[in-house]
Amino acid sequence: MIYEQFYQIIYKRRDVRGQFSGEPIEPDALERILSAANAAPSVGMSQPWDFILVEDPEIRKKFAAHVEEERVAFGKLLPSDRLATFEKIKIEGILESSLGIVVTYDPARGAPAVLGRNTIDDAGLYSVCLAIENLWLAATCENLGVGWVSFYKEQFLSDLVELPDQVRPIAWLCVGPVTHLEDTPDLERLGWQKRRSLDDRVFANRYGVKDQLRNWQ
Ligand SMILES: Cc1cc2nc3c(=O)[nH]c(=O)nc-3n(C[C@H](O)[C@H](O)[C@H](O)COP(=O)(O)O)c2cc1C
Repeated sequence: MIYEQFYQIIYKRRDVRGQFSGEPIEPDALERILSAANAAPSVGMSQPWDFILVEDPEIRKKFAAHVEEERVAFGKLLPSDRLATFEKIKIEGILESSLGIVVTYDPARGAPAVLGRNTIDDAGLYSVCLAIENLWLAATCENLGVGWVSFYKEQFLSDLVELPDQVRPIAWLCVGPVTHLEDTPDLERLGWQKRRSLDDRVFANRYGVKDQLRNWQ
């Protein structure tokens, strides 16, 4: 039943780092996941996203080396117990995945009068994130894994894939067939962070005021 399948996909989706098989992505599946991303809602229907498919091994190697530097830099900020946990976590699958997809944001799309972005500039960024989530869920339907990498300096990635000045890189997505998807997020399995219960997240009328009427799980 489509209703149940929808929720199954929501909960099945995982951020993938270590489970990429490296097999090629079926071209029709790639088109379907990009079409799903392109069908996302966007402020003023500005559709401010673009997708750069990165297959060039040299670009991928350079990006992986930069991400490794940023991983080490982040580790230096951590106290020793957190560093020990962090060191167990793989934070990217740039070279193991079949494809890199750089998702970009162009604030000039539909500007200057973007309907709905007049008072909230970030609404353009929110739109790109929705496109990414659509892609992520569609990829899960296609038995493809996606891993979002954000350990990079924006200017480095902009230069690497030659973005015009006003266009920002929002994500490097590692995409490809996987051996399996884990049931539990890596960060939870490896002791970095737990998923918070909905009960702590739902407020009544004012921020921080617990909803007394219902019990959320
Ligand atoms: C904006 C954003 C940036 C992220 N950056 C990284 C990253 O650089 N490396 C990584 O391993 N995971 C990254 N993730 C994935 C999260 O760690 C992951 O979504 C979270 O641990 C929950 O796991 P799940 O997606 O499997 O449910 C990112 C996710 C988001 C939404």
